[in-house]
Amino acid sequence: MNEHDTLGERLAQQGISRRAFLKFCAAIASMMALPPGAATAIAETLVKTTRPSAIWLSFQECTGCTESLTRSDTPTLENMIFNMISLDYHETLQAASGYGAEKSREDAMKKFYGKYLLLVDGSIPLRDGGVYSTVAGRTNLDVLQEVAKGAAAIIAVGTCSSFGGIPEAKPNPTGAVPVSDIIKDKPIINVSGCPPIPVVITGVLAHYLTFGKLPALDDLGRPKSFYGESIHDRCYRRPFYDQGKFAKTFDDEGARNGWCLFELGCKGPITHNACATTKWNGGTSFPIESGHGCLGCSEPHFWDGGSFYAPLSTPTSPLNLATEAVVAGAAVGAAVTIANRMKKNTAKSEHQTATVADLEK
Ligand code: SF4
Ligand code: SF4
Ligand code: F3S
Repeated sequence: MNEHDTLGERLAQQGISRRAFLKFCAAIASMMALPPGAATAIAETLVKTTRPSAIWLSFQECTGCTESLTRSDTPTLENMIFNMISLDYHETLQAASGYGAEKSREDAMKKFYGKYLLLVDGSIPLRDGGVYSTVAGRTNLDVLQEVAKGAAAIIAVGTCSSFGGIPEAKPNPTGAVPVSDIIKDKPIINVSGCPPIPVVITGVLAHYLTFGKLPALDDLGRPKSFYGESIHDRCYRRPFYDQGKFAKTFDDEGARNGWCLFELGCKGPITHNACATTKWNGGTSFPIESGHGCLGCSEPHFWDGGSFYAPLSTPTSPLNLATEAVVAGAAVGAAVTIANRMKKNTAKSEHQTATVADLEK
C-alpha cells in the first residue's frame, strides 16, 4: 500500500464499498448543511484525491483528543479520518520512536513542504521560555513555529489547542496559550471540545479535501456548520425548558421524567457544539441524554466559568451578555414579567443569586 495513494484506492484496499462511501458522503454533506447534490460532488472529488500528508503535534494535552478519535469501531464516520489523510507523524500512534520518529516528521515536512496539514492537540506553554513542555529536547513553541511554516492549513483539535483549555485554567501556571495566539499567517480552524466530536474533524477534512479550503468559520474560528447553533437550540429537553419544567436534583421526579437540566448547571444555552445532533459513540448519546448537563467544554475558559452544577443565572461573577440571554430565554419560556426582569437586573448589579425559580415567581 502506497502511503499517499488516493482515497478511492485506500477504501478499496480496506474493503469499504462504494455504497458505504456514498452513504458517508451524504452524511457529511447533511451534517455540514451543504446544498443538494453536494454529496455526489464530495464523493467524486474525494475518491480521486491523493491523501495529503498530515503531521500531528501533541503539546500540553491529556491524549483525550486522540483517544476520542481512535475509540471507534470500523467502519464509522469517525474512522474515515484515518483514511482521508496520511498520518506521517503522531507521537502516540506512530510505530517509530526516538530519532526515527523525529526523522519521519522532518522527511514529511521536506517532501510535502507547503502542502501538508498540521493537526495540533494541546496548548503551548510560554512561561519561562516554554520549558514546561518539551519533545525531543525542544519546546512546543519552537516545534510549532517550525512545522507551521510549511503547513497548508492548521487544524486545532480540541479546546486546549483552540482556546487554551484546561492547561490555561487559572492560575495558568505554564502560561498556556492556543495555537492561534502564536501562528498568525496560516489558515487555522478550531475544532473545539474536550475532546471534540470525531465526526466534526472528519467533516472538516472532507470539506477541505473537496473544496480545497476551510469551511465558513464563526468568530471563534470554528466551522459554522457544526458550531453555528448552541446545544440548547437543538436539545431534545428544550420543550421542558420552554415550559419551565426543571429537574432540581439528579434523582428527583423531574430528572426521572427527563426534564430540563438548566437548574443543575447545564451550560447548553451558551455552548456551541454539535453534540445534540451528531451525538457521540456512533450517534448513541450525548451528555444531556445521559442525564448530566453540558459543561460547556467547547467554549473558551470553560474550566473557569464557575461551578459545573450552578445554574447559569447564578452570578458568581457579573453576568455576561450570554448569561443574560439565557435568563431572558428562560424567562420567555416561563412567561416572565417585568418584575422578573427587575429581579434579573438587580441580581446582575448586586451579584445576587437569581435562579429560574426566582424568575418564575
Ligand atoms: Fe485533553 Fe480536553 Fe485538552 Fe483534548 S481538549 S487534550 S481531551 S484536556
Ligand atoms: Fe437542554 Fe440544557 Fe437547554 Fe435544558 S438547559 S434544554 S438540558 S441544553
Ligand atoms: Fe461538551 Fe457540552 Fe457536548 S460538555 S461534549 S459541548 S454536551
